[in-house]
Amino acid sequence: MNLGDLRALEPDFWRAPSAHNTQPWTLRYRGDRVEIGWDPACALPAADPTGRDLRLGLGAFTETCLIVCADAGLPVGFRPGYDRARRLVGALVAAGEPYATPFTADDVRARRTGRVPYRPGRLDDAVFGAAAEQAEAAGARTLRLPCRRLAGLLYDADRHMFGDPAVTFELRAWLRLSPRDPRYGLDGLTDRALRLGRAEALGLRAVLSPRAYPVLRRAGLPRLLAAASRGLLDHDGDVLVLVGPAGCPPEGEIAMGRVLMRQWLALSRLGHTVHPLSQIIDAPATRAALARMLDVDDPARLLSVVRVGRPAEPPPRSARRVR
Ligand SMILES: Cc1cc2nc3c(=O)[nH]c(=O)nc-3n(C[C@H](O)[C@H](O)[C@H](O)COP(=O)(O)O)c2cc1C
Repeated sequence: MNLGDLRALEPDFWRAPSAHNTQPWTLRYRGDRVEIGWDPACALPAADPTGRDLRLGLGAFTETCLIVCADAGLPVGFRPGYDRARRLVGALVAAGEPYATPFTADDVRARRTGRVPYRPGRLDDAVFGAAAEQAEAAGARTLRLPCRRLAGLLYDADRHMFGDPAVTFELRAWLRLSPRDPRYGLDGLTDRALRLGRAEALGLRAVLSPRAYPVLRRAGLPRLLAAASRGLLDHDGDVLVLVGPAGCPPEGEIAMGRVLMRQWLALSRLGHTVHPLSQIIDAPATRAALARMLDVDDPARLLSVVRVGRPAEPPPRSARRVR
């Protein structure tokens, strides 16, 4: 395997999605293989204490690497090797032939998270089927619900999230609310990605500041912030929930991240974008309520919740450290 060929593809590898756009992955070039690992400085210990989203993002990155290599005609495979202590997921290794995938580097470049309004209408069966079949092939399930059924849970989850100082400060550290932020083009969540106008971005920065937040938190800020996103699910659309296999170990979550990436690419190809709403499965109470609603025995099996639809306007492209 010519490792120089892989290095040249890194900007496309980096288009993989990650929670808060932390891009937690690392690549270590080791002679005949490239190890995929993670940087703990890019984990989210407050928002993601179990590491679920970290591993899903690492799986999405792994799948992206394989797709991009295949598109370049490189025979590269993945050898799993999850090792928590060494912060390793596995390695890209030489294979007999390129990874078999219907997706291309262009699909990887075109995909983006869409926090924009969606055109009204439920998902058509063929579109849902394209996402669902990716999960089924990997022993997982995708369930769908009308958006409005989750509106109350989203409100409760947002209140929980903005009421937790550790989670809120961690989020603030990854917000890039002004183009003057030196990390604006590199990582995190920009004002554009969050669709905040200038006044809203300035307001959010002010209320989340270390001085203001503790006071405002007691005065009802979490309720106000949660109310601001209340309308998000108040429309005629769908939410998809990825349900992993029972007792999914950490390496299983990496595999589920690969499924998630294939689902998001399949939807993107069909003109749809997704908007993850992980807060619903981050808060124990809303996660349990969603599991009951879906008749899923173990709430820990809920791995991802996304609003899906045809964007009414093009979602902006997110920043990356490797371009
Ligand atoms: C496992 C995972 C969880 C995510 N959770 C959320 C979320 O709760 N809310 C949200 O707005 N975006 C969420 N995202 C989307 C990321 O913020 C997004 O992928 C990142 O900002 C990069 O943008 P892009 O997807 O447009 O490339 C999540 C992404 C992943 C992979």
